[in-house]
Amino acid sequence: MDKIRIGMLGAWRGNNYIDLMLRDEEIELVAVCDRHKETLDQVELPASVKRFTEFDEFLAEGRKLGMNAVFLCNYFHQHAPFAIKAMEAGMDVVSECTSAGTMKECVELVRAVERTGRKYMIAENYPFSLSNMEIARLCREGKLGTPLYAEGEYNHSASTADLQHLSPGRYHWRAWLPRTYYVTHAMGPLMYMTGSMPKYVCGRSVYSPAIRRQVEGFRSVYDGVGMMFCEMDNGMIARFTGCTAMASDYSRYRVCGDIGGAEGGTGFGENVRLYYHSYALPEGITEPVTIYRPDPATFGKRAEEALKAGHGGGDFWIIENMKEYFLRDVTPFFDVYKGVAMSATAILGLRSSLNHGENYPVPDFRKEDERVKWENDDLTPFPDENGQGATMPCTMPYPERIREGQ
Ligand SMILES: NC(=O)c1ccc[n+]([C@@H]2O[C@H](COP(=O)([O-])OP(=O)(O)OC[C@H]3O[C@@H](n4cnc5c(N)ncnc54)[C@H](O)[C@@H]3O)[C@@H](O)[C@H]2O)c1
Repeated sequence: MDKIRIGMLGAWRGNNYIDLMLRDEEIELVAVCDRHKETLDQVELPASVKRFTEFDEFLAEGRKLGMNAVFLCNYFHQHAPFAIKAMEAGMDVVSECTSAGTMKECVELVRAVERTGRKYMIAENYPFSLSNMEIARLCREGKLGTPLYAEGEYNHSASTADLQHLSPGRYHWRAWLPRTYYVTHAMGPLMYMTGSMPKYVCGRSVYSPAIRRQVEGFRSVYDGVGMMFCEMDNGMIARFTGCTAMASDYSRYRVCGDIGGAEGGTGFGENVRLYYHSYALPEGITEPVTIYRPDPATFGKRAEEALKAGHGGGDFWIIENMKEYFLRDVTPFFDVYKGVAMSATAILGLRSSLNHGENYPVPDFRKEDERVKWENDDLTPFPDENGQGATMPCTMPYPERIREGQ
């Protein structure tokens, strides 16, 4: 591939990336597809970029125009079937989070990547904020010792008007999104910092009367928190949210090793708080606690420029990772196996929550004997656009419902 000739599916979130793509000499935006005509028409595009409202036509016509990659910014729980179609059509794929909406789709997705030999990566951007990259560097360079415990929180409360705007229609995915499901922004950074994968998960979700009062009538999830606890493959334990709506900062991250600990996120701005025991300060460290803004130059010549892009620079690094992968064969951290591991953790995290914290092994999707067990498991909390097809609860049984015997 000499140039990425890309098509964008989904022009809402997709629009953030379109801006970055149009400015990049190694990327040619070929086409944009959104079935919501108004959203599609609102995107400012050069005349050369074609607009489509139907995915199959976008794929077929895009192919004729030389399209060799697709960026998926469609509905959260519907990425896998579109990724598979695009790979079958010979295109590489970047997918917004999450990779797959069911365990079955996790299996189908990895099999499709292996069968087609196409490149697939997840656009999980939160690991690439300045402070998260710095914590990852501290871990990589052994400054914290052996990682023992990590925690991540992603919190996205909003006004009622904003929530209504974000979930247009009774059956929009955000109205049915279990609290554990949007796991990548809390879990992804911890995996990236510590280079680890989940082995076991248990979860707990908590009903919130205030959330129910706020969203009743237009959303079906009344939980305020979905929390998961994992044993990771490096021996460490990790505790992280999906997307919560508790009274807390927007997002925060922490890794504690047996020598030092580091934390960052909202409240610290772009700073990192580094901690060492006063009685065991490493050479060159004079204080137990240092709060500092990492030097962006540590992360390359373009890191300062990255900070101007969305999500603390994360969106910039997704585009850079995509270019390195598709044009220069550098496999990104968030490949298909990391993607489905996160999706599976979220899915099993809900099942665990509904079952008083039962512990589930997270399959290693590289291994056929582990993934085959899940190939027919298509349980989903999401209804289709007619309100049909949800096969499991999206929220915890709340006290009123228990009293009513439902
Ligand atoms: N990484 C981040 O920071 C970040 C931020 C926002 C959203 N997202 C992700 O981006 C994705 C999209 O979210 P969103 O905020 O844009 O809201 P959204 O899901 O409501 O919008 C999706 C858009 O895709 C279009 N679409 C869906 N299915 C389609 C189809 N079959 N054919 C043509 N068009 C189709 C819809 O019309 C809509 O405009 C989600 O997965 C979300 O999790 C990620």
